[in-house]
Amino acid sequence: MKAFLYRWMIRLTPLAAALLSGCNYAYPAPPSRPAAPSAFTRAPAALAAATPAQVALGRALFHDTRLSGDGSLSCASCHQPELGFGDGRATGVGIGGTKLKRHTPGLWNVGFAPALFVDGRAATLEEQALMPVANPDEMGADPAKVAARLAADPAMRARFAAAFPGGPAVTPATMARAIAAYERTMVSGAAPFDRWAAGSAGSMAPAAVRGYALFAGRAGCARCHNGWALSDGKYHDVGLPDTDPGRGAITGRRRDDHAFRTPSLREIGRAPPYMHDGSLPSLAAVVDHYADGVVARRGAPARVALTAAERRDLVAFLEALDSDAVVH
Ligand code: HEC
Ligand code: HEC
Repeated sequence: MKAFLYRWMIRLTPLAAALLSGCNYAYPAPPSRPAAPSAFTRAPAALAAATPAQVALGRALFHDTRLSGDGSLSCASCHQPELGFGDGRATGVGIGGTKLKRHTPGLWNVGFAPALFVDGRAATLEEQALMPVANPDEMGADPAKVAARLAADPAMRARFAAAFPGGPAVTPATMARAIAAYERTMVSGAAPFDRWAAGSAGSMAPAAVRGYALFAGRAGCARCHNGWALSDGKYHDVGLPDTDPGRGAITGRRRDDHAFRTPSLREIGRAPPYMHDGSLPSLAAVVDHYADGVVARRGAPARVALTAAERRDLVAFLEALDSDAVVH
């Protein structure tokens, strides 16, 4: 009975708050007790299967500089495997040194994202894959010309034929399918947090255990960072002081301004700096932002009061989300 009431309270609180404030961004109050760890470790549904030949081709294309207009950049120039598939910079640098507006995100677990890019403007990995190729600021190439260039290479022709037997040979569409197949293999292995949640008490330091209780409890992080990937897949304003309209530019709705897709937090320690603008250099800076930095804006969450020790605990928890896997 108690559990029943609790569930309904959780459901009704956001509704009541939304009615009272008349705005779509009324967040539920953080639960008074932490969500069970198992709620964060339940295995996600399997991703679409691809053949090994498709994955291998996708990996080769991901590292191939022939995908850029001047042969200087591959996907991996910006999405560097050893940097969690990010580039370690605040904002990306494209063809000819063009400065990009946004941070290069890490790509771990990208196959589970319901839509791609921080504003969700691409629906599938296949659709996304050719966008950086064609973007004049990123790789500055014509996908059809890239396909023709690859088709002129007998070794590549053979790899495409093996990956897509009987299908169309080297086309922008098969390029995109292979790259997407490779990206779907970027799935995290178990992290110390998973081992702890499965009952191995020593797998996480006491600081990280306390950090988890804050994360899933009073600090309210799990309102948005939930499920296996620690992302609700939705768009939120977290009160960063920049002017990027984010999701608002895609939907045209003012209430979506400053909203960005909640990122997965698995492997998060591997890909600093953080946020869509790369403005926060470390996990400690991210936690400080939620405590002291959130700007007052309709839709932005309230700041969370955290002591110095609590901030360290939260960081210790976030670090326990890095798996043992390294370069992919
Ligand atoms: C010049 C640097 C650069 C290159 C080259 C590049 N990207 Fe990106 N990538 C970015 C940036 C910056 C973003 C974030 C842009 C945004 O969200 O608006 C991004 C976003 C993405 C995303 C979305 C991730 C998410 O969490 O939604 C995927 C997937 C991706 N890139 C794959 C690729 C692939 C595949 C290639 C090669 C065909 C590639 N990128 C080439 C910089 C680059
Ligand atoms: C209202 C929803 C919401 C809440 C609450 C929230 N986050 Fe976030 N979090 C997001 C969104 C959205 C982003 C991406 C924002 C951006 O890129 O501008 C983000 C980004 C992050 C990042 C950086 C990820 C990256 O790849 O750059 C970390 C780390 C993080 N949050 C941790 C936390 C912690 C710790 C808490 C609790 C103190 C918390 N979040 C509370 C929605 C939320």
